[in-house]
Amino acid sequence: MKLGVLVSGRGSNLQALIDAIESGKLPCSISIVISDREKAYALERCKRHNVPYAVIKRKDFSSQEAFEEEMIKALGDVDLVVLAGFMRILSAHFISAFPMKIINIHPSLTPAFWGKSAQKQALEYGSKITGCTVHFVTEELDRGPVIVQACVPVLPDDTEETLSERILAYEHRILPQAVRWICEGRVKVNGRNVVVESAMYGTLPVNPQLEVF
Ligand code: GAR
Repeated sequence: MKLGVLVSGRGSNLQALIDAIESGKLPCSISIVISDREKAYALERCKRHNVPYAVIKRKDFSSQEAFEEEMIKALGDVDLVVLAGFMRILSAHFISAFPMKIINIHPSLTPAFWGKSAQKQALEYGSKITGCTVHFVTEELDRGPVIVQACVPVLPDDTEETLSERILAYEHRILPQAVRWICEGRVKVNGRNVVVESAMYGTLPVNPQLEVF
């Protein structure tokens, strides 16, 4: 399977995918990484690991549609588009170009705390448990059908930074895991309901579904 990965910043989730591929745990390749910011550290990771990349900036286009068209062209015939810290909202135009072939990692247990600063939202709400989600991308921002979630405790003296870091460690596990399941053809979608065939549902008290990562 060929992946296209969209990023905007640090790229630690991109790195988790690269590491999983390089260590043989993820049977796919990254055809292209697209960043909407030229200074994104994710691009340094691409250079270091010989991953092809392109910078496509919204401000270079007169409309959202033209911007998205350029990304669609650059993605070519990828089998799966992974949003790994891509901080722009994609329109129906882009989403319909890759029907049920776009996934996103989000730092909350959706549908809680969708949108920006999910970790800060969890802290401000006073949640005791939060986490991260990999879901299919639909027009409902951050709330498409859930593939996998991992839960993480919120501790009394957490700051946005300490909580984000605790969640991130699980993001780096569930994102490659979800991509692997999709590569293996085990992810079945029925409306909002996603089932991973033969996954280890219910065998452990927390984060039960993870197998490899
Ligand atoms: C991650 O925490 C990811 O879940 C979040 O941005 C961060 C990117 O980190 N994405 C969103 O909030 C999307 N709504 P990274 O660049 O190190 O992978």
